[in-house]
Formats: sequence, structure tokens, C-alpha cells
Amino acid sequence: MSKKAVSYKELGLVNTREMFKKAMAGQYAVPAYNFNNMEQLQAIITACTQTNSPVILQVSKGARQYANQTLLTYMAQGAVQYMKEMGGNIPIALHLDHGDSFELCVSCIETGFSSVMIDGSSLPYEENVALTKKVVEYAHKYDVTVEGELGVLAGIEDEVQSEHSHYTDPNDVEDFVKRTGVDSLAISIGTSHGAYKFKLKPGETVPPLRFDILKECERRLPGFPIVLHGASSVLQEYIQMINKYGGKMENAVGVPVEQLRDATKSAVCKINIDSDGRLVMTAMIRKVFVDKPAEFDPRKYLGPARDELVKMYKDKNEKVLGSAGKA
Ligand code: G3H
Ligand code: 13P
Ligand code: ZN
Repeated sequence: MSKKAVSYKELGLVNTREMFKKAMAGQYAVPAYNFNNMEQLQAIITACTQTNSPVILQVSKGARQYANQTLLTYMAQGAVQYMKEMGGNIPIALHLDHGDSFELCVSCIETGFSSVMIDGSSLPYEENVALTKKVVEYAHKYDVTVEGELGVLAGIEDEVQSEHSHYTDPNDVEDFVKRTGVDSLAISIGTSHGAYKFKLKPGETVPPLRFDILKECERRLPGFPIVLHGASSVLQEYIQMINKYGGKMENAVGVPVEQLRDATKSAVCKINIDSDGRLVMTAMIRKVFVDKPAEFDPRKYLGPARDELVKMYKDKNEKVLGSAGKA
């Protein structure tokens, strides 16, 4: 660590170890909500404090560049204080989402992250093992937890549907976890990132996720925390609002909530949600712009967006992830 480094413990944050242990025992999943700006962060903290849910504040490489790494450190520290001011006492982790290099993980650890993901899933297996192990060895010196990934989720840029993702091979998971020392593992069972997860023909419904792969991973890694990425439900009420107020999002489909609920009853301890937050913000801002075209005070459109985000996150914690009341 460099002399100027900030430890997450000084910021009042925690790593994910204890959170996952409790989630595994209690059969629920800890929400990992992505954020890029103050309103999203306020909404996440408010919702999780009001529902007494543990929370993982998740920051991608792009979000870190967007928000500024120094500002982010203190936003996370501020989030802990804000939560206490609201009378809460929930564990909060600050996690790097989809870290793509050892250097980025080190930089995040030095600026107060309590958990990092090193995503070597697109690398050949042995390279993924080597990179992940290197990050784990560094991170564990500072009691920072590490998420690895095996199997590749389809990306929206590929214009592919989830059937084309490379599912995790359960034959690899034991070896990977043992050799890398990771604290949790993201697996690919049919979800994908973004708002267009499945390409459905008229009348078709979303196919079930590959719970057989999840079960087999669980059998090979008893009691080990599994992570589900690409878990937004792409809430249709907000898609309809976006389209009603001038947007154009056709055929946007996500993971049905029933399937997410089923996933929480397994070894899935962390569920990643970004797109649903983006949809809520976009829908609400579009509505204000149409309803009040003369409005130009950002608080007047970001405020309603933030309020709606709080509702959506509370709903997730209470009705989907089962994390409400578990802090
Ligand atoms: O998994 C990807 C997350 O939704 C973050 O997306 O890289 O656009 O910030 P981003
Ligand atoms: P969604 O795009 O489904 O919200 O997934 C987010 C995610 O997996 C972040 O890592
Ligand atoms: Zn992801």
C-alpha cells in the first residue's frame, strides 16, 4: 500500500465475508446495487437503511472514472455517516464490479474499497486462475474480499441472447476456488447484462435459468458463496413509462422475479442489479421533462427519480432478495 492509501476500515465499511456467511445461513441474497452519482447512492442507502438490509455498493471501472476515484472514496464514507444519521446500523461494502486488471484492483484497495471483483472470465482458464490468485494474494493482506468469475455472460453489444453465453462448467469450479483462494464466485447460468436479456418470439416467455448448473456448482462447493450477475428484471412499468414519454426501448426483457427468488434459496449470496436502477431514473426524468417542459432545476427531475429509486430498491430487498430485516 502506498503511504497515501485509505483503508476501508477507516471509512466505516466492511468486507463481504460476514455478509455472505449470514446470507448463506439465512437463505437470502445481499443486494449489490451499482451507482454512478449522488442521487443513486442516496437512494440505495436510504432504501437499505429503511429496510434494514445489508448492502454492497457496486462501482464499475467506468463508474469510477465517471465519478472520480477520490470523490468516490469520500462518497462511500459519507454514505456510512448518512446511514447512521438516519438511525441505521447496516453493514455497507464498497465493491469493484468487473475489475479487469491487477493494477485496477490495487488502486481500488488503496482508495477504500472493501471488496473487488477480478473478472478474468474471458481469459483462457489458466490465465484466469493466475490473475485471480495474484489479486487474492494482494487483497487478503488488507482483509479485502475477492470475487472471481467463471463462465461468460452474454453482453448486449454482442446482439446475442442469453443462450449464447458460455455457461460455467461445474467441473472447473472446485479447482478454481481452491487454486485462487477467492471468497465468492460469479457463475453464468443464462443471465446477461443490460435491458435486452432474451430475444423472444411473439407469445414466448423467458426461458428458465440453468438452475441445474447452479445446483451442480453448489454440490461441488458446499457452503461457498455464489454471485449472480445480470439480475435486473427490466421492470416493464418503467419500460412502458420510458416509451410513453418519448423513449424507444423495444423488446426489453429481464429475469423474472420468481426465478430470482428461487436463486436466493440456493448458494447465491449476492445479486447484481444495475439496469433496473437506470430504467427507473430514465423513466422518471423523461416524465418530468414531458409533464413540465419549462422545468430546468435538476433537483426537480433528479429528486423524483431518486424517490422512485428508493421505492424500487426497497421492493427488491423486501420482495425479491429477502435481505430486508437481515442487517
Ligand atoms: O456489469 C456491468 C454494470 O452494469 C456496469 O456497467 O460498465 O456501464 O458502468 P458500466
Ligand atoms: P444488470 O444489467 O442485469 O442490472 O446486471 C448488472 C450487473 O451484473 C453488474 O455487474
Ligand atoms: Zn456484472
